[in-house]
Amino acid sequence: MAKKTQEFVCQTCGAAYGRWQGKCDACGEWNTISEEGAATERILAAGPGRPPRKGKPFPLAPLAGEQKEAPRLPSGNAEFDRVAGGGLVPGSVLLVGGDPGIGKSTLLIQVAAALAGAGHRSIYITGEESVAQVRLRAERLGLTSLPVELAAETSVEDIIATLSQGKLPRLVVIDSIQTMWTDMVEQAPGTVTQVRASAQILIRFAKRAGTAIVLVGHVTKDGQIAGPRVVEHMVDAVLSFEGEGGHHFRILRAVKNRFGPTDEIGVFEMTGGGLSEVANPSALFLSERDLGAPGTAVFAGMEGTRPLLVEIQALVAPTSLGTPRRAVVGWDPNRLAMVLAVLEAHCGVKLGGYDVYLNVAGGLRIQEPAADLAAAAALVSSLAKTPLPTDAVHFGEISLSGAIRPVAHAPARLKEAQKLGFARAVVPDATRGGERDGLTLAPVATLTDLVGRIVPGRPAPRRDAKPATAER
Ligand code: TYD
Ligand code: MG
Repeated sequence: MAKKTQEFVCQTCGAAYGRWQGKCDACGEWNTISEEGAATERILAAGPGRPPRKGKPFPLAPLAGEQKEAPRLPSGNAEFDRVAGGGLVPGSVLLVGGDPGIGKSTLLIQVAAALAGAGHRSIYITGEESVAQVRLRAERLGLTSLPVELAAETSVEDIIATLSQGKLPRLVVIDSIQTMWTDMVEQAPGTVTQVRASAQILIRFAKRAGTAIVLVGHVTKDGQIAGPRVVEHMVDAVLSFEGEGGHHFRILRAVKNRFGPTDEIGVFEMTGGGLSEVANPSALFLSERDLGAPGTAVFAGMEGTRPLLVEIQALVAPTSLGTPRRAVVGWDPNRLAMVLAVLEAHCGVKLGGYDVYLNVAGGLRIQEPAADLAAAAALVSSLAKTPLPTDAVHFGEISLSGAIRPVAHAPARLKEAQKLGFARAVVPDATRGGERDGLTLAPVATLTDLVGRIVPGRPAPRRDAKPATAER
């Protein structure tokens, strides 16, 4: 006899249990566990190992066989398309996450309008604003002449009924998934169960209709999308829209993409007329450089397939605290700790008595180990109060032994540096074949070489700056 299995789900973190309990073991919250509606099970799928009440077997296919490249529908917004992997895939569902106010609605109305302008049916459904508010924004963006179809709606059933009428849309934007609700489940809109059930229905619709759906998700305080990541695993791609407060740059980054790479970024600038695409981000990120100041180094980085030059700023100052401060914005604090340890152990650069601050300019976040060399150069330059040459770029990974290791894509990095008028590149010794007109390579084999280059004849600058006892 089949036993009725019920699922109890924590409304905060999404952990599932076989029976009710007062406290969620996964997130430690009290009174957050409630039963998931049995109707969901019937409509969506029977659980693992349970044969569905109806349904017929289907043939299974071998791996080898005729295959087609996923067709792409370029939206016409080049930076958005780049991050999506070359355009929207019909039938795919994309989640765009980001902090409130970062510009998600602005970006997506622009994408919807671009697609509508190219003659594709494109629909924008908002659950957060009124039609009048969206119209006002569209007017400001100069998009009102484009045939985007607009509605302020939150009932998923009504939305599906509307979308199923007439010609199937090519793109539907749902702004935001947290405001959507279905009467299939009892919980309030915004809860994990509602968000998940609503997303599930919309995903089903997308696959069936071949419509690309973009779901907007607000990031919660702790950086999780759409009520603790509940929809991330259901959608085909997760894009995160980021920006540093006070900067007008916005970066769209693929966190997950079933149809494309996850290391591409799209760069936008928030202007009075909406988000404009930045075709040459290096020029933008270097536009506010503080030329000739000690403690700044230009890093020739890569973001996906695209080289990107960015300024790394360091400030090394005597500490007044027992434990010196190490603060990093835009880079991995563990890598900073490693670079400081190598400087100390192999180059005699004592930083124990100094506070160290490291910042990546423009609100960019760097993930590459190739930034080690530029970070080290900025640190030594700040400590020695010696500016680095303004026409030099840096890249290279530092190993714990103090050696500078080569990194991938050296030619692309050097080409970008030359394009932006840099004359010198401080690179790992093993970098070959990068010489080009107007750009001189300055190879460094070890971190000691780099220190010697910045402070000639003094591989260990400012040893006298602070007595060693002050470190304790
Ligand atoms: P919005 O797209 O509403 O953010 P989200 O949907 O992510 O919450 O963007 C809101 C911000 O963008 C708001 O602070 C104003 C700014 N903005 C501009 O600077 N220029 C513009 O043309 C528009 C439409 C918005
Ligand atoms: Mg919005």
